[in-house]
Amino acid sequence: MISAVSPKAAARVCDAARSRGKTIGLVPTMGALHEGHIKLISECRKQCSFLVVSIFVNPAQFGPKEDFASYPRNLKKDLRICRENGVDMVFTPSVKDMYPPDFETFIELEKLPGHLCGLKRPGHFRGVATVVLKLFNIINPDMAVFGKKDYQQLTVIKKMARDLNLRLRIKGVETVRTGSGLAVSSRNRYLSADELRRAALLRKSLEEGRLMASRGAAAADIKKRIREMLMPAGGKIDYVYVCDRESLEDIKEVKGKALIALAVKICPARLIDNIEIQGPARSASKK
Ligand code: PAJ
Repeated sequence: MISAVSPKAAARVCDAARSRGKTIGLVPTMGALHEGHIKLISECRKQCSFLVVSIFVNPAQFGPKEDFASYPRNLKKDLRICRENGVDMVFTPSVKDMYPPDFETFIELEKLPGHLCGLKRPGHFRGVATVVLKLFNIINPDMAVFGKKDYQQLTVIKKMARDLNLRLRIKGVETVRTGSGLAVSSRNRYLSADELRRAALLRKSLEEGRLMASRGAAAADIKKRIREMLMPAGGKIDYVYVCDRESLEDIKEVKGKALIALAVKICPARLIDNIEIQGPARSASKK
């Protein structure tokens, strides 16, 4: 496994791989790798012949009161996981290389960040889109893989790729969960055993919401029921949305495919999750 630290070295290795006819796949991460990241790596491995994982805790996507300084970092373990999972190159740039002191160009989407997590985390998706485009420009991958757990992030990146005519395929991968249904996350380590148990209610409430949607319930009733089910979790609900899967705009009725997304603060962690839903199947028209 090749390890590249500078953007120039990473680009050189990828250019050489491409000239050998390799298809390049990229899995962007912030490290502290877990089963969720491993699933992305193995999905990407299946579809490309040169697999790159980037590990970079991106300061531009953390708010001033967020956990940038304390975000878990364990490069040695991450490198071992990458090696064991067939990664060809790990790219671990420094903050200075990614954001030199005179850095001033950012990518900003106009509407998508005005929903869900974007409302509570101003500037977050500007930081995500900027770093992801930089990674795409350095690696120049044929495909890049992102998790559906961060659904809004995936939506933002797909939209950026479409709007800016990026020539790569963006693939979304299903969320990896623990036995209780809780989405695996680097931030789960902040939770006690009791908090972890209560956090399992996130998934249960989303599943109930999906069932209600399939039976034709209105979005308002679905949201009300989810909020009720989340009460015993004892956290602070940031949001529960029933929305369109691409624009993330609120919907009142679930006719075709849609999304339920929620964020709950179970101190000290802010947990997000979502579920793709489908309204009731339309009955065949009678003649
Ligand atoms: P990070 O939180 O490290 O996540 C890296 C990728 O792993 C993201 O695409 C995320 O959606 C995916 N992921 C996390 N938990 C998952 C799970 N339980 N199942 C499936 N996929 C999961 O997301 C980021 O880093 C950053 O914002 C980044 C895109 C790297 C830009 O800095």
